[in-house]
Amino acid sequence: MPPQKNTPLLISQRLQELQKRLRLIPSHYFGNSFYLFDEEALADAVALFEKNLKGVTPFYAMKANDRDEILRYLAQAGWSFDAASAAEVEKLIALGVSGDRIILANPFKDRRTLETMVEHRVAMTTADSPEELVKLQQVYQAVAPEDQPLVLIRISLPAEGVQTDLGVKFGCPPLQALQLLKNCLKLGLKPGGISFHVGTQSWNLGNYERCLEASVWVLKEFKRETGVDLRLIDIGGGFPWGSADGSGSLAVEPLLGQIGQLTDAAQAEGYTLQAQPGRVICAGAFTLVSTVIGKTHRNQRVWYYLSDGVYGAYNGILYDHQPYLFLPLDQSLESQSEWSDAVVCGPTCDGVDIMSQGTPLPDNLELGDSLFTPDIGAYSMVAASQFNGFSRAQIVPVSSLPELDRLSPTLAQAV
Ligand SMILES: Cc1ncc(COP(=O)(O)O)c(C=O)c1O
Repeated sequence: MPPQKNTPLLISQRLQELQKRLRLIPSHYFGNSFYLFDEEALADAVALFEKNLKGVTPFYAMKANDRDEILRYLAQAGWSFDAASAAEVEKLIALGVSGDRIILANPFKDRRTLETMVEHRVAMTTADSPEELVKLQQVYQAVAPEDQPLVLIRISLPAEGVQTDLGVKFGCPPLQALQLLKNCLKLGLKPGGISFHVGTQSWNLGNYERCLEASVWVLKEFKRETGVDLRLIDIGGGFPWGSADGSGSLAVEPLLGQIGQLTDAAQAEGYTLQAQPGRVICAGAFTLVSTVIGKTHRNQRVWYYLSDGVYGAYNGILYDHQPYLFLPLDQSLESQSEWSDAVVCGPTCDGVDIMSQGTPLPDNLELGDSLFTPDIGAYSMVAASQFNGFSRAQIVPVSSLPELDRLSPTLAQAV
C-alpha cells in the first residue's frame, strides 16, 4: 500500500508563536538537542493553578522536574513540596526549604528516607498499609510529638481515562483507610487526614469527585467512631497537560476550573485541602529541539533519526506513556513538501529507541534540519540517561537569549 499523504498539522496559535521564537535562537545551539526553558511559562502555570484551585495549599511534586530554577521559583512563591526520597528532601533543604514545607508522599520509605525525615522534621507523610505504620512507629517513638509528621492515609479507587493508574501500586480502599487511621492512634502516631492520587493525565473530573467524596466519608466515619475530627484532604496530582494541537493552558483550564469547584465545596464544608501538582506546573515550560542526524526510506515510509531518543529526553514514551508532538522548525518546509506519516527514532543502537511509528512530517526534511517538541518539561529530564554515550540535552533558559527578549521579571528576582 502506498504511504498515506497528509496535509500539515493544524497547530495552535501558541505553537505557531513558539515556532517563530525558536527560529530566533542563534545557530550554534542547534546540532545537538536542547530544551528551551521558558521561565514565563512556569510562572503562568503557577498562576493558572492558584487561580483555579483557590485556598488549596500546593505541594509541588518535584519528581516531575527537580531543576533548581523551578524549585527556587516555587519556594520563593511560597509553595510547599512533595518529595519521594531522602535525596529529594536534602535537595530542598539545601535550597533553604525547611521540613515544615515538605510532605514525604511516598507510601513506602527506606531507612535513609525515614532518618532524613526525622532529621529535618518533615511535616507530613503518607501511608497505605499497616506495615508502613509500624515502620513509622518504630522510627518515631523516640521523637517528641511536636516533631512527628502528620500521617495521611492514601486511598485509591478505580480510575477512569488516566495515562498511568497509580492505584495499581498505591492506595487502599476507604474502609481500610478508616482502620489505618485508627491504627495511627493505637501506635501513637499523629493521624492527619486522607490523601489520594487519581492517576496521571486525568482529564476525567469524576476521578477527583469520587476520591474527594470517599475521603470525606472516611473522615466523617473516623470522627463518629473515635471522636477525633480530622479535616485535611490531599488531592494529589494528576492534573493534565498537553493536547493534540498544543494549545497549552487553554486546553486544561476548563477542567482545573471544575476541580476548583469541587475543592471550593469541600472547603465550604470545613475541610482543609492541599494538592501535589507535578506535570501541570512544569510540562509547558520546556520545549525540546532535536536535529535530524539520519534519514532513509524503509517499508514505503520516511525514517528520521533524531539527535535525541527514548533513552534521553523522550524517555517519557516508555516510562510516562506520553505521546509527543514532532514539529518542523522551518515553516517554509511545510508548504514546499508533501507530508506523510514518518517513523521517528532516536540515535542509539537499540531497536526500542523509536519514538513514533507514524507521525505526520514533511517528506523533505534533511540532515541538520530541526524538529521541536513542546510540552516536554515533565518526567523527561529527570529520567534521561546517557545510554550509548549520547549526552543529555542541555537546558537553555529563554532569559539567557536576549534575542527572545522575554525575561520574566518575577523569575529574575527569584533566581
Ligand atoms: C505521590 C505523588 N504525588 C504527586 C505526583 C505528581 O503527579 P502529576 O505529575 O500527575 O501531577 C505523583 C506522580 O507520580 C505522585 O506519585
